[in-house]
Amino acid sequence: MNELTSLGASIDGQRFWDDMLDQARIGALSPRGLRRLALDDNDNQARCWLVDRGRALGCETYYDALGNVFLRREGEDPSLAPLLIGSHLDSQPSAGCYDGTLGVLAGLAVLRALHEGDIRHRRPVEVVSWTNEEGARFAPGASGSAWFAGQRDAAEILDATDDDGVRFADALADCLARLDAHTVSYRPEPFTPHAFLELHIEQGPVLESMGVPACAVTGIQGVNWYSVTLLGQANHAGTTPESARRDAFTGAHALISALREAVAEHGEAVRFTIGKFALEPNATNTIPQQATFSIDLRHPSAAVLAALDERFQRLASETWSGCSAELSTSSRVAPVDFDDDLVEIVDTSVKRYAPTAPQLVSGAFHDAIHLAHRCPTAMLFMPCRDGISHHPDEHIERADAEIAVRALADSVGTLLAR
Ligand code: GLV
Ligand code: MN
Ligand code: MN
Ligand code: MN
Repeated sequence: MNELTSLGASIDGQRFWDDMLDQARIGALSPRGLRRLALDDNDNQARCWLVDRGRALGCETYYDALGNVFLRREGEDPSLAPLLIGSHLDSQPSAGCYDGTLGVLAGLAVLRALHEGDIRHRRPVEVVSWTNEEGARFAPGASGSAWFAGQRDAAEILDATDDDGVRFADALADCLARLDAHTVSYRPEPFTPHAFLELHIEQGPVLESMGVPACAVTGIQGVNWYSVTLLGQANHAGTTPESARRDAFTGAHALISALREAVAEHGEAVRFTIGKFALEPNATNTIPQQATFSIDLRHPSAAVLAALDERFQRLASETWSGCSAELSTSSRVAPVDFDDDLVEIVDTSVKRYAPTAPQLVSGAFHDAIHLAHRCPTAMLFMPCRDGISHHPDEHIERADAEIAVRALADSVGTLLAR
């Protein structure tokens, strides 16, 4: 072991944790949690905060055409592809302080260990914060990393609008102007990293129930997002007999039951969520004319997702309580398996601290799902209390976090020592 392969020993746990507490002030909610919707004022402030932290560690700072922010620690051979570490600083509307931010600040802690130990390495190291991982303001999520990895066109991303009708392109223009004013260098084009590593909270119950502080992640299940609209006829709630009704809510209810039955045929691994539902005109005494809802469908197998996709399309082509239905797909992201060699490095690093650590497949999507198409990619998970995430009560233990960051640093060091 040398100072690189045991880089975890050089992590300053106190300063890492101070950074976690400090970032949580940006967009803080009372009494806890935070709100940093992609490209809003808080999210942009968090970018500048990160840039200042990177500069204090001697890094060059960059942003690209999608507002992804990079902190670069130069290597002895600047021509080598950088090793990339990171996650995201944006959040759900009512979020905890760890989802995403943990992975960015863990990268910062690794840069600090390299900087303060004056540790030499040939390959450059960059920490990235990806734009709009959450997709809560502009759907779908992980758009900054999807564009960077060549998985989605910029034009389609820029065209998305939020609930107030603000275009992604306009929100992005404000963000880029702010980074410009903060004298961050513009480096518009994506590059091919040597590898990508992302540390994230598990957002589920497994590690906590096993009492394990970290683990390697072997891949991410696939996720399809749909939007469904049923069209009926608005009419008087008191006078219209059952036989004359074309009630969009009743139609949606019947269709949803049929979709649920189709999903249930594929066993316990399927995840099917209707997170948004809206009626029009949305009045107590008017039969709804239109029902609109979202579907989030996930499974680790591409074949199961394809079979359900076809089934959903067929069901939506039928008539439901006299209403026509239309199902459109807003995003399809296939499952990925991470790079075996990189998973092995991460697993070995984790097991120095947690010999009984399992290997997990991620149920949530992460920016790593796109990066895996661009370069060797792997992830680490750490536990969060009661598996709660996307909620202000999201909580992690500092002692677990320190171990997870050390395991990440050892993985980075192992790659740099090669
Ligand atoms: C990302 O936050 C997801 O929904 O998996
Ligand atoms: Mn996240
Ligand atoms: Mn999230
Ligand atoms: Mn996520």
